Amino acid sequence: MMRTEQIEMAKEKFGQLLEEQLKRVEVMKAQGDFVDYKSLDQIIIGVCGGDGIGPAITGQAKRVLEYLLNDEVKSGKVAFKDIEGLTIERRAEEKAAIPPAVLEELKECHVILKGPTTTPRKGDPWPNVESANVAMRKELDLFANVRPVRIPEQGIDWTFYRENTEGAYAVGSKGVNVTEDLGVDFTVVTSQGTERIIRAAFEYAKANGKTRVTAVTKANIIKTTDGKFLDIFYKMAKEYPGIAADDWYIDIMTAKLVDEKRRKDFQVLVLPNLYGDILTDEAAEFQGGVGTAGSANIGKRYAMFEAIHGSAPRMVDEGRDQYADPSSIIRAGAMLLGHIGHQDKADKLYRALDICTVTEKKLVLTGRDTGATGAEFADYLMETIEKL
Ligand code: IPM
Ligand code: MG
Repeated sequence: MMRTEQIEMAKEKFGQLLEEQLKRVEVMKAQGDFVDYKSLDQIIIGVCGGDGIGPAITGQAKRVLEYLLNDEVKSGKVAFKDIEGLTIERRAEEKAAIPPAVLEELKECHVILKGPTTTPRKGDPWPNVESANVAMRKELDLFANVRPVRIPEQGIDWTFYRENTEGAYAVGSKGVNVTEDLGVDFTVVTSQGTERIIRAAFEYAKANGKTRVTAVTKANIIKTTDGKFLDIFYKMAKEYPGIAADDWYIDIMTAKLVDEKRRKDFQVLVLPNLYGDILTDEAAEFQGGVGTAGSANIGKRYAMFEAIHGSAPRMVDEGRDQYADPSSIIRAGAMLLGHIGHQDKADKLYRALDICTVTEKKLVLTGRDTGATGAEFADYLMETIEKL
């Protein structure tokens, strides 16, 4: 093919991406406010097991939620809905990141508890479907990825507000190989997408007595998109005079998180998608690893709560899924409870998790038959809550 033809083809693809993104801007402009859960007759909680150890650990998290929401389920205020089919086999068969019928069911819910899903990568036996996580965040417009990391004994109490629908992920699976030698990916930032995540971070800070919000970018190098993110951050910070606003570049920020003297000072951090992805894994590691962290994906209409670890297919192959640690997805369940207006129940669950995994720790999970099963852990947790 002629070089000019190759460039024309790339331009055409680029044009299509711009059309799609401008459409997204219009959708964001037309968006209303957040759902008011109190005004709903019934809150529907979708439970979606996912792949690998997903169904095992999600099943245990569901048991704990059902126990805590027993009265609400009886009165009809809350209903659980099991959603099957968000599995790699089905996604491969339908060549879809989320099978359309599953997406429809997800959209019938208000909030979703989701187990880990497998993301195929080069060399896997699966077709290269997009990550179900990324697709769900986009389809349900779950723009705020909220990831708390708390280590009280070290004075660490961070809440990350990761932008979840734009940045390097917006068209991450739609880059262009212009020629055999030249590949180009795109990163996307919009005013609307940036404003809503920064607003969410400051509003969280305000509502929770936090005194500092920190933006993390690489605006010295990625001048257009990160530059826009940072400009909007400082502009909006003026609306919150009681809250200090500052910013760091991602490289030095990853270093500062290991600086024991300085890291305690960070409170709320707001950051574009890819930096948020990386920094939240680092942060979770101090707390005991990604297996201990819960994650909320919040949009105006829907919200989804998940563990931040993977699906561990090897545990299933070796018949050990019943020994998988459900505490990360149970933590996600606690975030779900808080989100739908049951902060008291969420706090109880956090307290019980602290007792069962740190202070009392009567059961140990080892991931194999040398330790407790996920079901035994969930029983222990519920017995602990009963005594609170
Ligand atoms: C996360 C994960 C996902 C991401 C993967 C599984 C697509 O790493 O939730 O942080 O990159 O966002
Ligand atoms: Mg990640």
